[in-house]
Parts: sequence; structure tokens; C-alpha cells
Amino acid sequence: MQGVTVVDHPLVQHKLTILRNKETSTAGFRRLLREISLLLGYEVTRELELTTTTIQTPLQEMQAPTLEGKKLVFASVLRAGNGLLEGLLDLVPAARVAHVGLYRDHDTLEAVEYFFKAPGDLADRLVIVVDPMLATANSAIAAIDKLKERGATNLRFLCLLAAPEGVERFRKAHPDVPIVTAAIDDHLNDKGYIVPGLGDAGDRMYGTK
Ligand code: URA
Repeated sequence: MQGVTVVDHPLVQHKLTILRNKETSTAGFRRLLREISLLLGYEVTRELELTTTTIQTPLQEMQAPTLEGKKLVFASVLRAGNGLLEGLLDLVPAARVAHVGLYRDHDTLEAVEYFFKAPGDLADRLVIVVDPMLATANSAIAAIDKLKERGATNLRFLCLLAAPEGVERFRKAHPDVPIVTAAIDDHLNDKGYIVPGLGDAGDRMYGTK
């Protein structure tokens, strides 16, 4: 599918299976999510630009590659996005963080922003938006709308699982934003859950219900 990368690495697929298993404990789920975000983070940061710096190895001076320092932002869609965020920050500790909180208005079904905090200079940054489940795509689309309204132009979307319906809606709304995911599942059920999926990612992560 154009604009969508499915990370089919065996370690990702193995960890995803454990995450899907309803017998996996809250602690196990959190640990696995952190581990898998490191592997997905590897893929979503693949195009970061490199420059070179002069260093001295024990043998000689060399021009060595280093990240260009173009500033990176991880934007977590609350609350489940935080599960992916932690591992990504292990990978790129200097990255800046944005938080986007949205809820769905019961009457209009529109995503309403209740929290937004991001670095001011979004236009100069690569913004990697993270939310584990791309289901209806309502919140992902709205989060990216909000980030674009504040100046972001260079974005990626990272999730763990996607529904085909969500991918289609997302690609229509934001064709300029590539998606990286560990799997595209079968379908979305009438309650908006991804099937077979893994249930409610936020509840499984925080032990709520
Ligand atoms: N959000 C979740 O946490 N799980 C789904 O299956 C769909 C949306």
C-alpha cells in the first residue's frame, strides 16, 4: 500500500503476538510495548539526515557520520501514545515531545482538543506522531490537523496496529504523511475495535477498564 510501511521484522511480529494475547499481564504489555517501539522507531527514523563530524579514533582522525541535528519531535496522542513514546525517547533522548489530547464529542462525533503542548518551532522539525491503534483514524487525523495548524509540515505517523478502513481514511486526509505500522489487521468492528487486534491499548497498558 502506498505510503504505508509494515515492519515485518521477526522480532516485531513475535512481540506483537505476545501483545495481542489476552493472557499477557499489564506489566508484560507495557514492557513489550516499550521494546517494540524501539524496533518501530528504528524504521520510522530511517530517513533522518546525517552530516559528518571530525573525530579522533584511537588510530586516526576520521570524518564520521552523525545526526544532522535537525530537530525531531515525537507527538504523542494521549493517552495510549505515551506507551510508544517512552521507547522512542530511549532511542532519541534529545528529541522534543508534543502531547495532543482529544476526546470525541458525543453529539457531533467530532474530535475536540482538550490539551495541546508542543515546541514552538514545529515548522522546522520532523514530527513523528505516535498512537498505537489506527482504528477509525479520527483521532490520528485530528491530531495531525492540529499539528499542521501550528505549523508542522514534515510529519510521519507511527502505530502498532492499523485497520484497513483507518489506513484508507488517513491516507485520504493526509496523503503527505507516511504511516509505519507493525501490522494491518482484518477489519474494524461496529464498536470501532480493530479485529483481531489486541483490545483497548490504553486499558491494557494502564490496567484500566
Ligand atoms: N483503540 C484501541 O485501543 N483498540 C482498538 O481496537 C481500536 C481503537
